[in-house]
Amino acid sequence: MTRRKYVVGNWKMNGLSEAIGEAQAIFAAAGEYPAVDVAICPPFTLIGAMAAAAAGRTVGGQDCHSAASGAFTGSVAAPMLADIGASLVIVGHSERREGFGESDADVCAKAEAGLAAGLSVILCVGEPRDVRESGGAIDFVLAQIAGSVPGEFDPARLAIAYEPIWAIGTGLVPTVGDVAAIHGAIRGALAARFGGKAEDMRILYGGSVNGENAAELLDAGDVDGALVGGASLTAAKFVPIIAAAADL
Ligand code: PGA
Repeated sequence: MTRRKYVVGNWKMNGLSEAIGEAQAIFAAAGEYPAVDVAICPPFTLIGAMAAAAAGRTVGGQDCHSAASGAFTGSVAAPMLADIGASLVIVGHSERREGFGESDADVCAKAEAGLAAGLSVILCVGEPRDVRESGGAIDFVLAQIAGSVPGEFDPARLAIAYEPIWAIGTGLVPTVGDVAAIHGAIRGALAARFGGKAEDMRILYGGSVNGENAAELLDAGDVDGALVGGASLTAAKFVPIIAAAADL
């Protein structure tokens, strides 16, 4: 089975209304690379305007609550994302796991909420620096996979993003061999639990991906795309990553 390449921008807490023009420029350029699935996950405040300005393009949230509605001041539910034009949600980003204390069980519940709302989900995993240095990265990540991947899902709508925490926003990246080893281990664990479905799931790499290193990282075994933070904020930086994916 050939998995389509998937390049997703995570804008984090960046972007005011004027940034919609940048998203339009990115999506217009992405039209030149029809073999690559491209998505942007802006802050909640821009999702509706971005989805309206980029009809037919994939716009997503960066988080959702696990409940569909209720007394959760300040939170946003997955059906609300779908209601304003999102078709995707990222769950379990390390900035949520670490900064907001989200457990594997929380992440699993959020993934289930996203899927139940009809969204595609990108579920993030990744080890901190000390775990990498002590040689425990694969075990750590596989424990996150075991604890946070839901039991039921359509493999076309659930992707995994492997993002080593020490590589996010730092300019540091693992070796291509290390990326391939972890992605292969993730796919192996998914296959052991879900059988053939694992072959249809996309596993993205994230952490300091840029126009220079994208081709090499995206070519690693079991890497089906990239989740990109800083380099997704402008067309000038993001489009070369999309182009690198298209070349593979
Ligand atoms: P970065 O962020 O590309 O800026 O390292 C990636 C992410 O956190 O998704």
